[in-house]
Amino acid sequence: MIKTIGVVTSGGDAPGMNTAIRAVVRSGIYHGIRILGIKKGFAGLIENDIIEMELKSVGGIINRGGTILHTVRCPQFKERNVRAQAIEKLKCWGIDALIVIGGDGSLRGTKALSDECDIPCVVIPASIDNDLSCTDFSIGFDTAVNTAVEAIDKIRDTAQSHERVFIVEVMGRSNGFIALEVGLVCGAEQIIIPEIKFDINKICKKIIAGKNRGKSSSIVVIAEGAGHTPDIAKTLSQKMGLDVRISILGHIQRGGSPTAATRQLASLFGDYAIRLLLSGKKNKMVGISGEKLINTDFSEVIKKAKKIDLAKYKLADVLSI
Ligand code: F6P
Repeated sequence: MIKTIGVVTSGGDAPGMNTAIRAVVRSGIYHGIRILGIKKGFAGLIENDIIEMELKSVGGIINRGGTILHTVRCPQFKERNVRAQAIEKLKCWGIDALIVIGGDGSLRGTKALSDECDIPCVVIPASIDNDLSCTDFSIGFDTAVNTAVEAIDKIRDTAQSHERVFIVEVMGRSNGFIALEVGLVCGAEQIIIPEIKFDINKICKKIIAGKNRGKSSSIVVIAEGAGHTPDIAKTLSQKMGLDVRISILGHIQRGGSPTAATRQLASLFGDYAIRLLLSGKKNKMVGISGEKLINTDFSEVIKKAKKIDLAKYKLADVLSI
């Protein structure tokens, strides 16, 4: 019987983590469960950095970026003896089940932990990268995309005034999900992502053809994992004989108030995670498929790689001719 649930945010933060914490705490307390908040990711668990979560603990955070529980990347968690310490602490604190809000690394860490103990775990996918399979969206992706779009729209203004070419780097680690989404809706002349090989000569040809037809600016959106942006900018510049400016958006994409879509997802996921645990489910990642909430075994999520939408990539190319 589950009486106490621990909640932790882990890995890189994502806008909407606070909204998810709120949903976990409020839904948990609604169902008569005691909720403990583990601070600073799995590291906080080992260091006994744990607090009681009350209804008022999560007041006024639905719209706040970051995570009130703070988070760290915890590479030591890959070691079995560190996980053993974590399991000991969970038992010590009387935590009967665990909800982990985080991305790919956190999912793997939670899977390893759940393989070594009988404490039921649920992962809520939260990562701007949106690289986890078995869910259409992770918490934070929509917000990061909107932040990047707002920035690139501004870059487009100045690019047009000066008739310039810009290469704008977005986050996404080794994946191009943010770059593809952002590139399509900003009308980027080119999208460069790790999943699709690019031909630098073709890119130059497209930009020059556009310029000759009267285009006053060109924007190339590149995913951080697709290559070294300054080198690519230099090659483009040399080949086209044009000045190419660089803008690296960086961590701005991880902050800010979550969008309505992110808040809705985080609220649904938080409540669903609680209900799954109370119905006896364990070691599942929650997700959304279309409008439907789904849950998938950790091992299944890890096995499946999320695929880039090739049709969307093609569409972006056609529309930015
Ligand atoms: O996974 C989220 C993410 O923002 C990636 O897009 C990026 O590569 C990475 O985290 C940056 O991590 P850190 O903040 O630890 O430098």
